[in-house]
Amino acid sequence: MRSRWSASVYDDRHRLGEAEIETLLHAAQWAPSAGNSQPWLFFVCVPGTPNHDRLVATLSRGNSGWVPRASVVFLTAAHVRTGEEPDAPAFSDYALHDVGQAAAHLTLQARAMGLHAHQFAGFDHDALAAALGVPPTHQLLTGIAVGAPGDPADVDERTAARDHRDRVRKPLAEWAFWGGFGEGQVADSEA
Ligand SMILES: Cc1cc2nc3c(=O)[nH]c(=O)nc-3n(C[C@H](O)[C@H](O)[C@H](O)COP(=O)(O)O)c2cc1C
Repeated sequence: MRSRWSASVYDDRHRLGEAEIETLLHAAQWAPSAGNSQPWLFFVCVPGTPNHDRLVATLSRGNSGWVPRASVVFLTAAHVRTGEEPDAPAFSDYALHDVGQAAAHLTLQARAMGLHAHQFAGFDHDALAAALGVPPTHQLLTGIAVGAPGDPADVDERTAARDHRDRVRKPLAEWAFWGGFGEGQVADSEA
Protein backbone atom coordinates (compact mmCIF):
# COMPACT_ATOMS: atom_id res chain seq x y z
CA MET A 1 0.00 0.00 0.00
CA ARG A 2 2.83 2.33 0.86
CA SER A 3 4.29 1.91 -2.64
CA ARG A 4 1.11 3.25 -4.27
CA TRP A 5 1.23 6.63 -5.93
CA SER A 6 -0.54 8.26 -8.85
CA ALA A 7 1.87 7.84 -11.74
CA SER A 8 1.29 9.87 -14.90
CA VAL A 9 3.93 8.47 -17.27
CA TYR A 10 2.68 5.25 -18.85
CA ASP A 11 4.12 2.94 -21.47
CA ASP A 12 1.63 3.31 -24.32
CA ARG A 13 2.87 0.05 -25.94
CA HIS A 14 1.97 -1.98 -22.85
CA ARG A 15 -1.28 -3.93 -23.10
CA LEU A 16 -3.20 -5.91 -20.51
CA GLY A 17 -4.90 -9.19 -21.33
CA GLU A 18 -8.56 -9.75 -20.62
CA ALA A 19 -7.67 -12.03 -17.67
CA GLU A 20 -5.58 -9.30 -16.04
CA ILE A 21 -8.34 -6.75 -16.53
CA GLU A 22 -10.77 -9.21 -14.96
CA THR A 23 -8.42 -9.74 -11.99
CA LEU A 24 -8.51 -5.98 -11.40
CA LEU A 25 -12.31 -6.02 -11.58
CA HIS A 26 -12.47 -9.00 -9.20
CA ALA A 27 -10.59 -6.94 -6.60
CA ALA A 28 -13.35 -4.32 -6.83
CA GLN A 29 -16.02 -7.02 -6.84
CA TRP A 30 -14.92 -8.29 -3.43
CA ALA A 31 -14.95 -4.91 -1.72
CA PRO A 32 -17.36 -4.63 1.21
CA SER A 33 -20.49 -2.51 0.77
CA ALA A 34 -23.46 -1.44 2.88
CA GLY A 35 -25.84 -4.40 3.12
CA ASN A 36 -23.76 -6.00 0.33
CA SER A 37 -25.56 -3.60 -2.02
CA GLN A 38 -22.57 -3.44 -4.44
CA PRO A 39 -23.71 -0.10 -5.90
CA TRP A 40 -20.77 0.17 -8.35
CA LEU A 41 -20.51 -0.03 -12.10
CA PHE A 42 -17.24 -0.10 -13.98
CA PHE A 43 -16.90 0.79 -17.67
CA VAL A 44 -13.80 -0.75 -19.23
CA CYS A 45 -11.95 1.49 -21.70
CA VAL A 46 -9.17 -0.25 -23.62
CA PRO A 47 -7.21 1.80 -26.18
CA GLY A 48 -8.62 1.34 -29.67
CA THR A 49 -12.17 0.59 -28.50
CA PRO A 50 -15.26 2.82 -28.71
CA ASN A 51 -15.32 3.27 -24.92
CA HIS A 52 -11.76 4.57 -24.96
CA ASP A 53 -12.59 6.98 -27.80
CA ARG A 54 -15.60 8.23 -25.85
CA LEU A 55 -13.45 8.87 -22.78
CA VAL A 56 -10.58 10.56 -24.61
CA ALA A 57 -13.02 12.97 -26.29
CA THR A 58 -14.15 14.27 -22.88
CA LEU A 59 -10.86 14.49 -20.95
CA SER A 60 -9.87 17.79 -19.40
CA ARG A 61 -6.80 19.49 -20.86
CA GLY A 62 -4.72 18.52 -17.82
CA ASN A 63 -5.60 14.84 -18.18
CA SER A 64 -5.52 14.51 -21.96
CA GLY A 65 -1.70 14.20 -22.05
CA TRP A 66 -1.37 11.18 -19.78
CA VAL A 67 -4.65 9.25 -19.46
CA PRO A 68 -4.72 7.98 -23.08
CA ARG A 69 -1.29 6.33 -22.63
CA ALA A 70 -2.50 3.97 -19.87
CA SER A 71 -3.12 0.30 -20.71
CA VAL A 72 -6.72 0.40 -19.55
CA VAL A 73 -8.98 2.99 -17.98
CA PHE A 74 -11.92 2.10 -15.78
CA LEU A 75 -14.77 4.54 -15.29
CA THR A 76 -16.71 4.17 -12.08
CA ALA A 77 -20.38 4.91 -11.60
CA ALA A 78 -22.64 4.63 -8.57
CA HIS A 79 -26.20 3.34 -8.39
CA VAL A 80 -27.58 6.41 -6.66
CA ARG A 81 -31.38 6.35 -7.21
CA THR A 82 -33.96 3.59 -7.31
CA GLY A 83 -35.97 5.36 -10.03
CA GLU A 84 -35.32 7.72 -12.92
CA GLU A 85 -37.05 10.73 -11.29
CA PRO A 86 -34.63 13.17 -9.58
CA ASP A 87 -36.53 12.75 -6.27
CA ALA A 88 -36.61 8.93 -6.39
CA PRO A 89 -35.41 7.30 -3.15
CA ALA A 90 -31.70 6.70 -2.77
CA PHE A 91 -30.50 3.24 -3.75
CA SER A 92 -28.18 3.24 -0.72
CA ASP A 93 -27.10 5.99 1.66
CA TYR A 94 -23.55 4.75 1.27
CA ALA A 95 -23.30 4.27 -2.50
CA LEU A 96 -20.53 6.82 -2.99
CA HIS A 97 -18.56 5.46 -0.05
CA ASP A 98 -18.82 1.95 -1.46
CA VAL A 99 -17.80 2.88 -5.01
CA GLY A 100 -14.75 4.67 -3.59
CA GLN A 101 -13.86 1.58 -1.64
CA ALA A 102 -14.21 -0.67 -4.69
CA ALA A 103 -11.98 1.76 -6.60
CA ALA A 104 -9.39 1.60 -3.82
CA HIS A 105 -9.38 -2.20 -3.96
CA LEU A 106 -8.82 -2.15 -7.71
CA THR A 107 -6.04 0.41 -7.30
CA LEU A 108 -4.21 -1.73 -4.74
CA GLN A 109 -4.67 -4.84 -6.87
CA ALA A 110 -2.93 -2.98 -9.69
CA ARG A 111 0.05 -2.38 -7.40
CA ALA A 112 0.12 -6.06 -6.47
CA MET A 113 0.40 -6.80 -10.20
CA GLY A 114 3.35 -4.42 -10.62
CA LEU A 115 1.15 -1.82 -12.27
CA HIS A 116 0.36 1.77 -11.39
CA ALA A 117 -3.08 3.27 -11.07
CA HIS A 118 -4.08 6.93 -11.16
CA GLN A 119 -7.61 7.99 -10.33
CA PHE A 120 -9.01 11.11 -11.95
CA ALA A 121 -12.18 13.15 -12.19
CA GLY A 122 -11.14 15.71 -14.80
CA PHE A 123 -13.49 14.92 -17.67
CA ASP A 124 -16.84 16.16 -18.91
CA HIS A 125 -19.11 13.99 -16.80
CA ASP A 126 -22.36 14.90 -18.56
CA ALA A 127 -20.95 14.36 -22.05
CA LEU A 128 -19.35 11.03 -21.14
CA ALA A 129 -22.43 9.79 -19.25
CA ALA A 130 -24.52 10.58 -22.34
CA ALA A 131 -22.03 8.86 -24.67
CA LEU A 132 -22.07 5.75 -22.46
CA GLY A 133 -25.84 5.76 -22.03
CA VAL A 134 -25.69 6.05 -18.23
CA PRO A 135 -29.31 6.24 -16.98
CA PRO A 136 -30.44 8.80 -14.36
CA THR A 137 -30.43 6.03 -11.72
CA HIS A 138 -26.63 6.08 -11.89
CA GLN A 139 -23.96 8.74 -11.47
CA LEU A 140 -20.72 8.64 -13.39
CA LEU A 141 -17.96 9.37 -10.89
CA THR A 142 -14.29 8.86 -11.68
CA GLY A 143 -11.71 7.31 -13.93
CA ILE A 144 -8.92 4.93 -12.90
CA ALA A 145 -6.05 4.76 -15.37
CA VAL A 146 -3.95 1.60 -14.98
CA GLY A 147 -0.72 0.81 -16.75
CA ALA A 148 2.98 0.05 -16.69
CA PRO A 149 5.54 2.78 -15.98
CA GLY A 150 6.75 4.49 -19.15
CA ASP A 151 9.83 6.38 -20.24
CA PRO A 152 9.65 10.09 -19.34
CA ALA A 153 11.49 10.81 -22.61
CA ASP A 154 8.41 9.61 -24.52
CA VAL A 155 6.09 12.26 -23.07
CA ASP A 156 5.96 16.04 -23.07
CA GLU A 157 7.81 17.94 -20.35
CA ARG A 158 4.67 18.84 -18.43
CA THR A 159 3.55 15.21 -18.18
CA ALA A 160 7.05 14.03 -17.22
CA ALA A 161 7.23 16.67 -14.48
CA ARG A 162 3.99 15.36 -12.91
CA ASP A 163 5.80 12.26 -11.67
CA HIS A 164 8.24 14.36 -9.63
CA ARG A 165 5.76 16.29 -7.56
CA ASP A 166 6.17 16.24 -3.81
CA ARG A 167 3.65 13.93 -2.19
CA VAL A 168 2.36 15.42 1.04
CA ARG A 169 -0.28 14.53 3.60
CA LYS A 170 -1.99 16.30 6.49
CA PRO A 171 -0.64 15.08 9.84
CA LEU A 172 -2.79 12.61 11.80
CA ALA A 173 -3.24 15.27 14.48
CA GLU A 174 -5.49 17.23 12.08
CA TRP A 175 -7.96 14.46 11.41
CA ALA A 176 -7.58 11.50 13.78
CA PHE A 177 -9.31 12.09 17.09
CA TRP A 178 -8.87 9.75 20.03
CA GLY A 179 -11.53 11.87 21.77
CA GLY A 180 -14.50 13.91 20.49
CA PHE A 181 -14.27 16.23 17.50
CA GLY A 182 -10.90 17.98 17.63
CA GLU A 183 -9.94 16.23 20.85
CA GLY A 184 -7.22 13.81 21.80
CA GLN A 185 -5.01 14.19 18.77
CA VAL A 186 -1.62 12.52 18.86
CA ALA A 187 1.54 13.62 17.15
CA ASP A 188 2.38 11.78 13.92
CA SER A 189 4.99 9.09 13.87
CA GLU A 190 6.59 8.53 10.46
CA ALA A 191 4.34 6.35 8.25
C1 LIG B 1 -11.63 11.45 -6.91
C2 LIG B 1 -10.26 11.79 -7.42
C3 LIG B 1 -10.12 12.70 -8.46
C4 LIG B 1 -8.86 12.99 -8.99
N1 LIG B 1 -8.77 13.77 -10.11
C5 LIG B 1 -7.56 13.89 -10.72
C6 LIG B 1 -7.46 14.50 -12.00
O1 LIG B 1 -8.47 14.90 -12.62
N2 LIG B 1 -6.23 14.62 -12.56
C7 LIG B 1 -5.11 14.14 -11.94
O2 LIG B 1 -4.02 14.25 -12.51
N3 LIG B 1 -5.17 13.53 -10.74
C8 LIG B 1 -6.36 13.37 -10.12
N4 LIG B 1 -6.46 12.71 -8.93
C9 LIG B 1 -5.23 12.19 -8.28
C10 LIG B 1 -4.92 12.99 -7.03
O3 LIG B 1 -4.45 14.27 -7.39
C11 LIG B 1 -3.87 12.21 -6.20
O4 LIG B 1 -4.43 10.99 -5.77
C12 LIG B 1 -3.44 13.03 -4.99
O5 LIG B 1 -2.73 14.19 -5.40
C13 LIG B 1 -2.55 12.24 -4.06
O6 LIG B 1 -1.42 11.75 -4.75
P1 LIG B 1 -1.04 10.19 -4.71
O7 LIG B 1 -2.21 9.43 -5.29
O8 LIG B 1 0.20 10.04 -5.56
O9 LIG B 1 -0.82 9.83 -3.29
C14 LIG B 1 -7.70 12.41 -8.39
C15 LIG B 1 -7.84 11.51 -7.33
C16 LIG B 1 -9.10 11.19 -6.85
C17 LIG B 1 -9.22 10.16 -5.73
